[in-house]
Amino acid sequence: MKQSVPTRHRSGVAPTSQRLFASPLDFISEVHLRERQICAVIDDLAIATSPDRQAVLTVLRFLNEELNVHQRDEAEDLFPLLVLRCSEEESIERTINRIRADQVGAIRLLPQVRVTLADYLDTGADLTAEDRTTLTEFAGHMRSHLVAAHAILLPIARSRLTRADLRMLSEHMRLRRGLPPIQEMTNAE
Ligand SMILES: [Fe+2]
Repeated sequence: MKQSVPTRHRSGVAPTSQRLFASPLDFISEVHLRERQICAVIDDLAIATSPDRQAVLTVLRFLNEELNVHQRDEAEDLFPLLVLRCSEEESIERTINRIRADQVGAIRLLPQVRVTLADYLDTGADLTAEDRTTLTEFAGHMRSHLVAAHAILLPIARSRLTRADLRMLSEHMRLRRGLPPIQEMTNAE
């Protein structure tokens, strides 16, 4: 077992820059990179003898503050837009459903992962074998989902979504994060 989380995984786990909202697919792409880093941190936590408290906090913050809105960006806007812009012969819905299966697997384990990490922060008690398996499974589902979404769906979105689609996607992403619409911001400047 490892003693602690290597520092390399802790670097670059700052929240995704909101400046990227102007280019919503780049924002989603950045979140995927961040998700990948978080998965590596979770994998390390799952095998660490004494999990690093700061790493646990970073993961919990990401799960509580960023993951849910990102999943909504995809499920409520990106995926429906892809269905709208692809032809029936391309069977994009089937591809999305396959990719969503892992997302659903991760969402199913999310409450347990949150409790495990929060308990560890509160009590400092050792993670059980079951806790560790849950963390590894969760990271596995999250990674499979993000790799497929990133490699398959984002390139299609880049070639098919119209400027109006991207504007709408950007507006909805801002709204979900409690940010003012771009129009309002421009007027206020
Ligand atoms: Fe994603």
